[in-house]
Amino acid sequence: MVYKKTKMIEEKISVIGLGCWNFGGDWDSSDKRKSIAIVHAAIEMGINLFDVAPVYGWGQSETILGNALQDGRRNKVLIASKGGLLWDKPYQTQNNLSRTSLLKEIDASLKRLQTDYIDIYQMHWPDPTTPLQETAQVLDEIRKAGKIRYVGLSNFAQRDVEMMMNYIPVHCQQSLYNMFERNSTSYHGIPLDYRTEADVLPVVKKYGQVFLPYSPLFQGLLAGKFDSGITFSKKDIRNANPKLAGEGFEKYRRAVMRIEEVGEKIGRPINEIAFNWLRRKPEVTSIIGGASSVEQLQKNVKSVEWDLDDMTVKELEVILQQFAQNIYYGK
Ligand SMILES: NC(=O)c1ccc[n+]([C@@H]2O[C@H](COP(=O)([O-])OP(=O)(O)OC[C@H]3O[C@@H](n4cnc5c(N)ncnc54)[C@H](OP(=O)(O)O)[C@@H]3O)[C@@H](O)[C@H]2O)c1
Repeated sequence: MVYKKTKMIEEKISVIGLGCWNFGGDWDSSDKRKSIAIVHAAIEMGINLFDVAPVYGWGQSETILGNALQDGRRNKVLIASKGGLLWDKPYQTQNNLSRTSLLKEIDASLKRLQTDYIDIYQMHWPDPTTPLQETAQVLDEIRKAGKIRYVGLSNFAQRDVEMMMNYIPVHCQQSLYNMFERNSTSYHGIPLDYRTEADVLPVVKKYGQVFLPYSPLFQGLLAGKFDSGITFSKKDIRNANPKLAGEGFEKYRRAVMRIEEVGEKIGRPINEIAFNWLRRKPEVTSIIGGASSVEQLQKNVKSVEWDLDDMTVKELEVILQQFAQNIYYGK
């Protein structure tokens, strides 16, 4: 494994982390036993950052991660969980970053994770109805109580990140970032109030924050998973991603084939190229890809064994630029 040190966080963090969203059953591609085996294998491979959230699997992902980290494993890793997305019924969520709500949420997360502290506590999505100062004050209170070590913001506009920093340090940011979604305007149909490459990365660099790019494999597209089309079961959350359907998806698929052709020339599969492309960015700390089997994780971790050369990066850039400008000329 390769590790990165940032200014804001004491520990060195593995450049490959593990995203635990799919553990909770929303993706219909994992189960509890397999997920626990993935966490144990990840730790053996040197992965020390695990990203999770209460809302993933409606509590299940945190519970499974908590179970997997028993028997002396908890202290070897950093848990990056989140707060601020509540649910009454599955798939009906509300953003809530108020003091009362976060005080309840943190205790519920600690219980599910079977731990006394969360290393990085990230606000999952902005809540326009709660003043930033209120959220900052309660995070400070929770930190002083020893329940969290570091604060993170996910999916926040950069003006709000900097505003929050007037009240408390923001150690970590998380946003949508992969080869195709560099400055994306939406995620699962939700408008994004940030552009990752254009405005998040410069702020991350300015303050030396940890940066966790989410959906590094575009939910499997950048692992070549959908080369022969999409076959999600009805309950898979990826059905709610409009980019994985219709004409737009065909455009992505053609670009995937172009990247796979580049991969053939250098003898590397597309999942490794997608990870390597992210790892080259100095602002990227830990790539929190998901995996539904130990084999997938092993394949992704292989990407730390080599580096993309400058010529190949240029070739990829041409493909990505053509794709971004919608003037894709492919087979
Ligand atoms: N902050 C936020 O708002 C936010 C939003 C989204 C995600 N996240 C975080 O980011 C993490 C990862 O993002 P993501 O869940 O969107 O997924 P992703 O990492 O882009 O894709 C993961 C999926 O790709 C497939 N895959 C992975 N490695 C593969 C390989 N070597 N070969 C073939 N297929 C492979 C698997 O699909 P199958 O399951 O079909 O096998 C896997 O579940 C999440 O777990 C979560 O922690 C955060």
